[in-house]
Amino acid sequence: MYILCVVFYMCVIHASSQEVTDLPTTTPTPAVCAVCICTDITVDCAQKNFSESLTIDEWNELSMRSFKEIDLSENSIDILTIIPILPIEKLNISNNKLHYIEPWCFKNLENLTSLDLSSNLLTELKKTVFWGLPMKNTITQFSKMVYLNLAHNDLHMISKDAFSFMHSLRHLDLTRNPLKIIDQVAMAALSELTFLKDLKMSGCGLEDLPIGMFRTLRRLEYLDMSDNYLTTLPSALSEPANLKMLNLSRNPITSLSDKMPLSLSKLKELHLCNTKVEVIKSGELGSLKSLEVLYLCNNRRLIEISEDALTWLDDDENKMWPPITEVHLHNNNLTAINSAILFRWDLLTDITAEGNHYVCDCHAQWMVDVLVPLYTRLNRSVNGLICSRPPELRGLSFALLHDSSKSLICEETNLHEPDVAIVLGVMIGKKLKQE
Ligand SMILES: *[C@@H]1O[C@H](CO)[C@@H](O)[C@H](O)[C@H]1NC(C)=O
Ligand SMILES: *[C@@H]1O[C@H](CO)[C@@H](O)[C@H](O)[C@H]1NC(C)=O
Ligand SMILES: *[C@@H]1O[C@H](CO)[C@@H](O)[C@H](O)[C@H]1NC(C)=O
Ligand SMILES: *[C@@H]1O[C@H](CO)[C@@H](O)[C@H](O)[C@H]1NC(C)=O
Ligand SMILES: *[C@@H]1O[C@H](CO)[C@@H](O)[C@H](O)[C@H]1NC(C)=O
Ligand SMILES: *[C@@H]1O[C@H](CO)[C@@H](O)[C@H](O)[C@H]1NC(C)=O
Repeated sequence: MYILCVVFYMCVIHASSQEVTDLPTTTPTPAVCAVCICTDITVDCAQKNFSESLTIDEWNELSMRSFKEIDLSENSIDILTIIPILPIEKLNISNNKLHYIEPWCFKNLENLTSLDLSSNLLTELKKTVFWGLPMKNTITQFSKMVYLNLAHNDLHMISKDAFSFMHSLRHLDLTRNPLKIIDQVAMAALSELTFLKDLKMSGCGLEDLPIGMFRTLRRLEYLDMSDNYLTTLPSALSEPANLKMLNLSRNPITSLSDKMPLSLSKLKELHLCNTKVEVIKSGELGSLKSLEVLYLCNNRRLIEISEDALTWLDDDENKMWPPITEVHLHNNNLTAINSAILFRWDLLTDITAEGNHYVCDCHAQWMVDVLVPLYTRLNRSVNGLICSRPPELRGLSFALLHDSSKSLICEETNLHEPDVAIVLGVMIGKKLKQE
């Protein structure tokens, strides 16, 4: 079907070009451009129902112009053979049916910077698929290659030297490939990527991360290990010293008993949602000294966040807090939030805390007095902040308690007055100290 189209269009083009033979001819239009949308630098063949990649002739024709971006995404291409010499920088073959890529496939594309092979059916990558042009006794590097996307394939392993000729790679996406383990071979392949900034291995079936995995990845800033089978904090997390964002959500982690490694002192954003953590104990997040954004949500078993979960002591034994600006604590099993977990609630730019099982006693007074106005100021709906206990307050919203200036009491001990005073005193004291 496609071939017919092309032949048909070629005739049309041929016919029309005959009519204008007298005019000075610029570079002829490649046949593919009759089907795809071509501009000066791009060839957009997305969603053209191609069942095959371009033929050698069609690729060669593209060299008449200096196209930099070729988009073949969302077709049904199943096989990719060696592409001839072209100045292509961006190649997108995502969302196809690729199950085979010929070894040395990209060797002629010396200026390639971005290659998207995501959402295909690749089960393996032959060792030499990403190798450059063999020259004399060496192989040329893809020295400009920065982005490689292999997400949503069926890769079971990473072969030896897979990325050996992409030393400058910054972004590697391996999301949703059934790797199951990072073996020595995969580890060696990954550790060659010393410029890597961004690694995504979400949904790869990983139970552990081997020690040494990140040792050479000194520039790694963004690590997505979500949706795996990690049950503890992997020791390997102490290796990347420049990490800014870490996603550990959707792992069956039961506790942080090993604490977040001290090396994560530059981490700005942590995602720890949908885990099996029950308690965040004192100091367990206390090494995250630069933390700004904390997602601790949908942890259905999480009943307590210790007052000192995020704090540490400085050299003079002063308690220190990280500069949190965003905190997400929704849909846990918390009965209370301790106001001391953060230093300055008023500096938050976003907060979510709904969907917990709050006990509306004196310990929750500060939430009514401080959190409700904060929610309003931040345009967040307070409707989800609801009392679960005591029975007489069950189902009541914090908003209502706030509007009616309700005082919450602690039944047994009747510590209501001093407790609120302490809480507010602490908060006012903190403010004074900061200002
Ligand atoms: C896509 O191509 C197949 C044959 O390869 C054809 O049967 C189908 O009708 C085409 N679909 C569209 C939307 O053109
Ligand atoms: C490749 O194309 C898909 C559409 O199928 C798009 O979502 C994706 O962002 C493109 N990749 C790159 C690197 O531009
Ligand atoms: C790659 O880019 C360089 C510099 O822009 C250029 O000289 C060279 O011809 C390009 N390579 C190809 C295969 O087009
Ligand atoms: C973290 O991982 C979860 C689960 O895979 C995902 O929903 C979320 O978007 C991720 N967040 C970031 C910032 O990567
Ligand atoms: C939530 O906490 C309550 C006690 O406050 C406990 O009975 C319940 O089992 C917990 N839910 C889960 C899913 O752990
Ligand atoms: C809050 O919402 C109102 C109206 O919905 C809008 O005008 C205002 O700009 C919002 N404020 C912030 C801080 O987003």
